[in-house]
Amino acid sequence: MTRTILVTGGAGFIGSNFVHLLAKERPDWRIVNLDALTYAGNLENLTEIEGRSGYTFVHGNICKEEDVERAFDACEGDVTVVHFAAESHVDRSIVSGMPFVEANVAGTQVLLDVSRKRGVERFCHVSTDEVYGSLGAEGYFTEDTPLAPNSPYAATKTASDLLVRAAVHTHGFPAVITRCSNNYGPYQFPEKLIPLMIANASEDRELPVYGDGMNVRDWLFVEDHCLAILRVLEAGREGEVYNIGGHNEYPNIEIVRLILETLGKPESLIRFVKDRPGHDQRYAIDASKIQRELGWEPSYTFDQALPLTIQWYQSNADWLQRVRSGAYREYYQRQYGAEGSRST
Ligand code: NAD
Ligand code: DAU
Repeated sequence: MTRTILVTGGAGFIGSNFVHLLAKERPDWRIVNLDALTYAGNLENLTEIEGRSGYTFVHGNICKEEDVERAFDACEGDVTVVHFAAESHVDRSIVSGMPFVEANVAGTQVLLDVSRKRGVERFCHVSTDEVYGSLGAEGYFTEDTPLAPNSPYAATKTASDLLVRAAVHTHGFPAVITRCSNNYGPYQFPEKLIPLMIANASEDRELPVYGDGMNVRDWLFVEDHCLAILRVLEAGREGEVYNIGGHNEYPNIEIVRLILETLGKPESLIRFVKDRPGHDQRYAIDASKIQRELGWEPSYTFDQALPLTIQWYQSNADWLQRVRSGAYREYYQRQYGAEGSRST
């Protein structure tokens, strides 16, 4: 039986890494990528996949039922949905929350409705540890930690998790939810901490560190996150939540210093700036459930994957420059014109 993975948000950071991983690890699966190509969607992340047989890009918005229907029309055989599409940047949600409500809440409900109508094998909702709020100096988020989102972004992700939960409970919908900590790696939009600091340091620009730089995040290499999602797709239990994380906690300032050291740049580039409003102090994931039930654990340590990531941005200076200048947005027009989707 043919199998199609319908990926939403596959032109973004984690989504494009996931498409690359699928093409390598499950070459016989068809892939349909539904993406609205917001500022965060970049088809240049997928140039190596374009010509691959069994890959279809559908330009569309998860908030529009007709766009989601079009993506399902492009699928063949059993369909599994992996839902990455979202507005993902906390700082943007502080400036303006409505786009987050539309994409993350309304968009998820539209996707759930169409997926239920069409009938899917499985629906994996890619969520975040930010739904749990913030930790003090001790302790970890488990799947049972109460939901207590603090930013507008986190609140909309929490709402989407609850909509997925309700679909499971009310309709017996075959969904699973994953909640991962901070990712880093290739193709991350340079508004997020690690790629922003690499990009600025490379150009000898100032590195803006919020507050005292002592907020802690639990970093995971994006390939490890993608492997965990694949594992959940294939072996996770319906209706369950799986936390994903690498026991890899660092205060922001240490990461910034490591990046400067690796690039041979001076610490005088660091600028402590006004703190993010409502800034969560610490995230740390207890990933023992996915390890115990599904045998997943990270393959990369930070010591291995941070230098790999820095090297990737150095060897892909063109990609970075095109993202920073906005030139990447011309790619769609050149590649797809007015057509809106393309199969190979
Ligand atoms: P991203 O911002 O890099 O990419 C988001 C993608 O979704 C883009 O390609 C964008 O064009 C697309 N998109 C946005 N709104 C859409 C809409 N209405 N319809 C169709 N496509 C739309 O995000 P990311 O960092 O790759 O995160 C992907 C998912 O993983 C998100 O759901 C995020 O909440 C979650 N997550 C991210 C992290 C992280 O560290 N980046 C960690 C845990 C969970
Ligand atoms: O924990 C998972 C979440 O991680 C995901 O759900 C989000 O989609 C993703 O954006 C990320 O959220 P954060 O807010 O933790 O990531 P960000 O890279 O924006 O910030 C990481 C830390 O660095 C945070 O403490 C704020 C700080 N920071 C960030 C930026 C952009 C700075 O000090 N300076 C900066 O310029």
